[in-house]
Amino acid sequence: MFKDKKVVFSGVQPSGVLTLGNYLGAIKNFAAFSDEYKCYYCVVDEHAITVRQNPAELRRRTYETLALYIACGLDPEKNTLFVQSHVSAHAELGWILDCYTMFGELSRMTQFKDKSQKNADNINAGLFTYPALMAADILLYQTELVPVGVDQKQHLELARNVAERFNSVYSDTFVVPEPYIPTETAKIMSLAEPSKKMSKSDENENAVIRILDPRDVIIKKFKRAVTDSGCEVRRAEGKEGISNLMSIYSAFTGKSDDEITSEFDGRGYGDFKLAVGEVCADALAPVQAEFARLTSDKAYLESIMAHGAEDAARSAARTMSKVRRKIGFIEPKRV
Ligand code: TYM
Repeated sequence: MFKDKKVVFSGVQPSGVLTLGNYLGAIKNFAAFSDEYKCYYCVVDEHAITVRQNPAELRRRTYETLALYIACGLDPEKNTLFVQSHVSAHAELGWILDCYTMFGELSRMTQFKDKSQKNADNINAGLFTYPALMAADILLYQTELVPVGVDQKQHLELARNVAERFNSVYSDTFVVPEPYIPTETAKIMSLAEPSKKMSKSDENENAVIRILDPRDVIIKKFKRAVTDSGCEVRRAEGKEGISNLMSIYSAFTGKSDDEITSEFDGRGYGDFKLAVGEVCADALAPVQAEFARLTSDKAYLESIMAHGAEDAARSAARTMSKVRRKIGFIEPKRV
């Protein structure tokens, strides 16, 4: 049925409560591909353990991330939704691609540098080779397009390099994937430090809007958002806080920068921040309601995971068989 469809793959780590950055930079854009592409959306739990996780929390967040996928509009009938550790080919190809990924390449990854600074007592090998596993996630499905926020661009470039390297050693094996990075919402910034990315793991809760934050909390956090000493709602250098709020407002209303500037002309930052909070809370309310409904039905989520993993594994097996043959591994025979 999907034979002629091109493939989209993306993943989200179940390593914290998802943020407005995850939503606007990635998940909100996923559903748009469902009709035209064969889509795989994965909860990447194997990536999450590169940083120490509490087992019970990891398990709960894995269910929750899957529920959020569905609550954000991903129809399980039209998309393959699954958990990474349920398809062993990810770890298998991850190891193989480790052997085609250079130490120097991995050393240049800015996310590795950031995360090893933040987790100085646990700079494990997995944190270092993480981008090779991410390349495996993508290349396993012969993916054409990978919708991600801009922070993943460097990892995507590495995945492309690894695919090209493997293809040039063994002849065409992998499709070389392209990133799909939204223009306006590629990098939603922290509300407390607008020069920094909004991040799941930020210790300052006021810096981060969580997809599941209640309405009053969302509005309060936007009211406290750090801006500048001016009063004009206009995108400009030195106005990173306001520019970030404009991107968020625009993502929810579809309004252009000029329209936003004239809408808030002479009204000051207070009114603008309240309006951003309201459109954001309005947009997230149905997602939250659907999330609450879904998380109360664990059996349903488990059946989605099971079907998704079966479908993904079937497709991954085709790539693995090709890879094994090219490398010189013996295909295991059934007894
Ligand atoms: P993760 O879990 O950190 O983030 C999930 C997605 O959200 C995007 N994102 C943002 N976009 C805009 N503004 C922000 N502040 C913001 N914060 C996060 C991320 O770019 C990402 O698209 N390594 C990946 C997960 C992964 C993956 C993959 C993605 C594993 N394998 C294969 C694509 C394909 C990660 O840690 O995303």
